[in-house]
Amino acid sequence: MHVGCQPRHAGCISVGRNLTPADRTLMAATAKLPDYAASLTQYHRAFGRELRRAVRAVPLPAGARVLDVPCGDGFYAAALARRLYPFGKVVAADLSDAYLDLAREEVGRWGRLAAVEFVPADAYRLPFPADEFHVVWCARSLISLDRPVDALREMRRVVKPGGVVAVLEDDEYHRVMVNWPVGLELDLQRAVAEATRERYGSRAGLSPARRVRRWLLEAGLRPGRRMTFSADRPAPFDGPTRAYLELHLKETREFVAPHLPADRLAEFDRAIDPAGEGSVFRRPDAEVTCLTTLFLGAK
Ligand SMILES: C[S@@+](CC[C@H](N)C(=O)[O-])C[C@H]1O[C@@H](n2cnc3c(N)ncnc32)[C@H](O)[C@@H]1O
Repeated sequence: MHVGCQPRHAGCISVGRNLTPADRTLMAATAKLPDYAASLTQYHRAFGRELRRAVRAVPLPAGARVLDVPCGDGFYAAALARRLYPFGKVVAADLSDAYLDLAREEVGRWGRLAAVEFVPADAYRLPFPADEFHVVWCARSLISLDRPVDALREMRRVVKPGGVVAVLEDDEYHRVMVNWPVGLELDLQRAVAEATRERYGSRAGLSPARRVRRWLLEAGLRPGRRMTFSADRPAPFDGPTRAYLELHLKETREFVAPHLPADRLAEFDRAIDPAGEGSVFRRPDAEVTCLTTLFLGAK
């Protein structure tokens, strides 16, 4: 959940591990990045294999020109450029200079990639001519873009006729699923719904995947295939999964705490305490499944 409720301290990037060069870059940039930055990058580290599978599912003609907007930390721009190599081009665009710097770093870490250009851009007024790109890729940003249909219309404008706008989005109620006791799960979902309504004015505020198809239609795009990608991780969790879960569950705890009965909150605290005997981090039968969905809209 990228709810912007995470405190601005980069120390959480490296929970229980030594700092990698990538951690240091992220820490340096964190002051200028949104509060969700550490959790977002850790999500890419934990589920990179499955997210790259989503990138591979996008129809990309050889030598294609692809726009990744907003590109964030560059994870998808690198994956797209790796797929296109040696021909074609990726334009990575974002409103945030700090994110564009991070994206340059990320792309620079990969070896054989198609050309990547970094462009500061507002998703509502893209600095590109009409019909410029074969594909526009837009990942997990329709919450940040509070006028999603206007943004999708602008993406449609810059896609060639016959091209595709590819949207990767989540539904908060089915995004990170842990095999909690059922009673805890139900109360957590209710608490997420209440907290979301309070912050976003609607219980669906963190579930853009429920509305992407309608938004594509309203933007004048023809909805095509919808593909959901799952990442299954059983205990003991690998380092990146564990680090991501620690961040995600801490954020979730801050978000839902005012909406959980005291006994449930205490149960949740025990369940997410990294050092706790029966917590998800120590239980040998713990399992987590992460879902994200790719929507294709044709021009
Ligand atoms: C949740 S992040 C997702 C980034 C990336 N697509 C990913 O999945 O990692 C949202 C991104 O939207 C960018 N953003 C917010 N408003 C924007 C705007 N009007 N135009 C372009 N980028 C914007 C932020 O800087 C941030 O990089």
